[in-house]
Amino acid sequence: MSTVVIRVARPSVGEEEAAAITQVLLSGNYVSGKKVEEFERAFAEYIGGNHAVAVNSGTAALHTALAVLGIGPGDEVIVPPLTFFSTISAVLHQNAIPIFADIDPDSFCLDPRDVEEKITERTRAIMPVHLYGNSAEIDTLVDIAGRHDLKVIEDAAQAHGTEYKGRKVGSMSDIGCFSFFATKHMTTGEGGMLVTNNGKWTELAMMIRNHGLSNRDDHDCLGYNYRMNEIAAAIGIVQLRKLDSMNQRRIDNSLYLIEELEERRIPWLAVPKLKEHIKHTFFWCPVCIDEEKAGFSTKELIVKLREKGIETRNRYQEPLYKQKILIEKNPYPRGFPFNSKHYSQELDYGKVNLKNAEKVAGRIVGLPNHCGLERSELDYVVDVLSNIA
Ligand SMILES: Cc1ncc(COP(=O)(O)O)c(C=O)c1O
Repeated sequence: MSTVVIRVARPSVGEEEAAAITQVLLSGNYVSGKKVEEFERAFAEYIGGNHAVAVNSGTAALHTALAVLGIGPGDEVIVPPLTFFSTISAVLHQNAIPIFADIDPDSFCLDPRDVEEKITERTRAIMPVHLYGNSAEIDTLVDIAGRHDLKVIEDAAQAHGTEYKGRKVGSMSDIGCFSFFATKHMTTGEGGMLVTNNGKWTELAMMIRNHGLSNRDDHDCLGYNYRMNEIAAAIGIVQLRKLDSMNQRRIDNSLYLIEELEERRIPWLAVPKLKEHIKHTFFWCPVCIDEEKAGFSTKELIVKLREKGIETRNRYQEPLYKQKILIEKNPYPRGFPFNSKHYSQELDYGKVNLKNAEKVAGRIVGLPNHCGLERSELDYVVDVLSNIA
């Protein structure tokens, strides 16, 4: 086993975050205070939306967004098969039905053509995921949604600062959702945010995150405890100030890896295809493995890299329609919501087979690209990859 350890992700935090935490801790005000409001204002401005609502996870943001838009039992929501499962579980939390559309093989994000194919009279929303720091073709998706009277919720949990035609993702649809989990572009430990231009939805989201309370005692809608606390918000304010410079390091590191790997012409390794109109922020530096050409599996490659001290990511292993909870259709007791009176369709996730997703699932490897890495460490990653037998 090598003594080198190059971690795949590492939060970039320091004295400033520590001071911000201490200040809140000593203030005695931990909930629903000034820091959350300040973070919301700053985040909305950064993303380019009129309003932001802070919550305590990205999953809470997605769930709240669906609840705000009134999506519920029997409604179909079009989702991609390669994402973290929260994109799908948020739909199920509203008792709605996730319907999978295929991905574009180059961007790994939703393929608008297949989305259009999947629209039925029951479809209410499309949830594109800006995967690995890339952007889905959001203009086209919003256009499709407009033609079919659908809502669009952007899952931008992996794409803080990513731009599409000069605009930040999360600002171009009905509601954009972000996560501040520890490994993300910026972190609050755990946390999330909704961004929208709609004032009414903002008020409703604020109620939903706070037990559905419209004032101290009146519960006017079904709510949750999804509040972000002041300590998390204080960290977020500092992290947001650093986001552009942290992103630049991620981008520089990733572009360096891509360039160097291209130069080595490794026949079994495909680097990401970048598009002119997208500013990719590389939550991951995803490379795709051709196992036939390599003569070893992606899993074997990951073990070899680990032996050389290089951590990687390898997600998502399978298209999410293969998850047991969907195959068995039992997210809730007694088969709800698939057998509810609101949903009369026969749906068998076992029969879903999306060509592009099947082809790349399990074969995408995220190389270390976080902002704490030195050039020599990136060179080491490239050298190890080029010399793998
Ligand atoms: C694409 C995507 N959506 C949603 C989430 C959920 O965010 P959280 O972990 O903050 O609940 C994540 C987090 O991993 C994610 O990557």
